[in-house]
Amino acid sequence: MESISPDILNGKDFDNRDYARKIINYPAMMVPCVQESIIKSLISELPEKVSMIDPFMGASNTLVTSMRYGINVFGQDINPLSVLVSQVKTHIYDDDLREGFKNISEKIRRSWSNKIDISFKNIDKWFKKDVQIELSQIRRVILKEENLFHRKFYWVILAEVIRLTNNDRTSTFKMHIRTQEDIEKRKLSPKDFFFRIAERSIEDIFNLKKELEKKDLITSDNNFKHDVDVLWGDSKERIRTEKSYNLLVTSPPYGDNHTTVTYGQFSYLPLQWIPKSDIDNDINLNYLDVIQEIDSQSLGGKNISEYSVIEENLFSKSKSLKQFFEGFTYEEEQKAKKVTNFVFDLDITIENILDKMQSNSFLAWTIGNRTVNNKEVKNDKILIELMEDKGVSLLTDLNRDILAKRMPEKNNFSELMRKEKILIFKKK
Ligand SMILES: C[S@@+](CC[C@H](N)C(=O)[O-])C[C@H]1O[C@@H](n2cnc3c(N)ncnc32)[C@H](O)[C@@H]1O
Repeated sequence: MESISPDILNGKDFDNRDYARKIINYPAMMVPCVQESIIKSLISELPEKVSMIDPFMGASNTLVTSMRYGINVFGQDINPLSVLVSQVKTHIYDDDLREGFKNISEKIRRSWSNKIDISFKNIDKWFKKDVQIELSQIRRVILKEENLFHRKFYWVILAEVIRLTNNDRTSTFKMHIRTQEDIEKRKLSPKDFFFRIAERSIEDIFNLKKELEKKDLITSDNNFKHDVDVLWGDSKERIRTEKSYNLLVTSPPYGDNHTTVTYGQFSYLPLQWIPKSDIDNDINLNYLDVIQEIDSQSLGGKNISEYSVIEENLFSKSKSLKQFFEGFTYEEEQKAKKVTNFVFDLDITIENILDKMQSNSFLAWTIGNRTVNNKEVKNDKILIELMEDKGVSLLTDLNRDILAKRMPEKNNFSELMRKEKILIFKKK
C-alpha cells in the first residue's frame, strides 16, 4: 500500500483548494487532504473498477474527493440537509448557473414585499422580523426558478445564510439563543450574505468541474463519467443500494448526537425554509416535528428496549464496551447506557454495510475516542472488536490530530477529543 505520511494526516501541506467544501459549514467535515491520501493509496491496491461508499456522508467530502479519482460513489445520510448539500456538491452544473444567478440576484434585489411566508413555533425567537422578511423575499424568488438543480444550489446558499443570520450563537452546534442585547445590536442583511456566498460557491463549484474536466471525467452531455448516487437514508435501517462496493471511506458519529455533535439541531432552522420535495421525496422522517427529531433518530438517539438481553450480547462482542460500562456505579448508569445505545446501533449499521461490501474490499473508518464521566469511551477498540466479531480484521491504524476538522469550540466534547484514528480493515 502506498504510504500515508503522518504529516499529511495532521494537515501539513494542507491542500487549500476548496472543492466546494465551504459552500456550507456542516459540522465535523472531513479534511479533503486527509481523505485524499487514504483514498489514493487504497485505490492503488484495488482492481481497476473502484466503487466507494460512505453511509454517513455528512457534507460529502469523501464523495467529492473520490470523484476526483474517477471512481463510482455512493453516499447516504439521515440528515436531509446533508443530502441537499451532497446533491449540489456532486452535481455537474452547466454554465447557465452563472447566467441564472445574475437573473435571480436582480429579482431578489428588486423584491420589496413585507410578507413573511414561513411560520413555525418560536420563529420570532430565532429570527428578527427584518431578517424573516428578507429571507422570505429570497425564498419566493428561488421557488420560481424552474431548474430543480439550480433551486437546490440556491437552497444550500439560503441554508448557510440562515445559519449566519438567525439568533442562535454560532459557536456551538446546539441551539443557544444570543442575549437580547446582542440580538438588537446585530444589523444583518440576508440578501447581502446570499449574494456573497452564492458568488463564492459558484466559483468553487466550477473550479472543481474544471479539475474533473482536466482529468477527462465529464461526458460530452455534462455528466460525471462514473456513478454518483446520493440518497436520504437511515443506515441502521438499510443501505439504499442494490450495488456492491470495494471501498468504504467514512467517519461515523462518535456517540449519540445529543451529547456529541448535534447535527440535527444545527440543521433545524435552515430546514424550516426549504421544501422537502426539493430535497428527496423518499425522506421518511418528520424532521420538523421538534428540534431534536433528527438527533433522536440518528445513531444512539433512542433507548434500546429489552436492555439486559441486548447488553449482554453486545458485551460479548466488545470487551472494551463491557469494561467501560463496569466502571460506572448504578446511579451513573444512565450515562453509560447512552454509549451502549450508540454501540448497539453502530453494530447493526456495520452488518448492513458489510452486506454491501465485496470480497477483498477495504474499509477506512475515521473515529475518535471520547470521555463520559471522566471515563474514556474507546471507540477505536470497540469498532475493531465489532468488526472482528463479523470476521473482518484490522489491516492498519493511523493517528491524526483533530485540529483541522470543524468541531464545536465551546463544547466539552471537542476539548476532550484531540486525536482521531483512521482504522483500515480488509474484508476477505
Ligand atoms: C462525522 S459526520 C460525517 C462527515 C463526512 N464524512 C464529511 O466528510 O463531511 C457523521 C454523519 O453521520 C450522520 N448519521 C448519524 N446517524 C445516521 C444514521 N442512522 N444513518 C445515516 N447517517 C447518520 C449524521 O447526520 C452526520 O452527517
